[in-house]
Amino acid sequence: MLHNIPEPVIKRMKYLEKFDAEDRVDGTPRMQRLRQIPPETGKFLSILAAGAPKGEFIEIGTSAGYSTMWIALACIDRGIKIKTFEILEEKIKLAKETFRESKMAKYVELVEGDARDYLNKEKNISFCFLDAEKEVYDDCYDLVIPNMVKGGILVADNAINHYDVLKPMIDKALSDERVDALIVPIGKGELLCRKI
Ligand SMILES: C[S@@+](CC[C@H](N)C(=O)[O-])C[C@H]1O[C@@H](n2cnc3c(N)ncnc32)[C@H](O)[C@@H]1O
Repeated sequence: MLHNIPEPVIKRMKYLEKFDAEDRVDGTPRMQRLRQIPPETGKFLSILAAGAPKGEFIEIGTSAGYSTMWIALACIDRGIKIKTFEILEEKIKLAKETFRESKMAKYVELVEGDARDYLNKEKNISFCFLDAEKEVYDDCYDLVIPNMVKGGILVADNAINHYDVLKPMIDKALSDERVDALIVPIGKGELLCRKI
């Protein structure tokens, strides 16, 4: 999977990595920035998703679709789609461009709107990546965990760089008897939960 990433995917990843790096130094307002995961977190997500049990893949917080492409690499062999939720119009436009340019559109369903309005309809979730505004993590966690299959994986980004604001949700996950959980010090810190 990581040894044969399709060329259009590599090309779009490189384009978005440059875009994201420029965003961080050129004064682009926070809500307009892509705020992507770094590549090592992307590889971590691909590998976890490839090993997830049978079920549905979802992502909360698409931005321009960079992390979606990493997860979608694990969808190729399975012949499934990842469903990814994004609320901002400008990001939706960029994400559509990403899925078209990378030729990954057949492995992605982009849902436009607030993920919290849809999550209670998602069943049999086997992989979830949570990377939205920090204020919605707690609601999303509560909506996703009951609908995960046994062995399903939830990864939440920013568990180290935004630890203070996420602490209530992180503490809840670490003591939640429905999951085994820990923080993995990769990228910005990933809260990793496995449904028991
Ligand atoms: C940190 S960025 C995601 C970066 C992306 N995962 C990546 O690594 O390429 C967070 C994104 O979540 C979106 N977002 C925030 N709250 C949301 C919600 N309630 N539902 C859907 N999307 C949301 C934001 O508009 C923003 O584009």
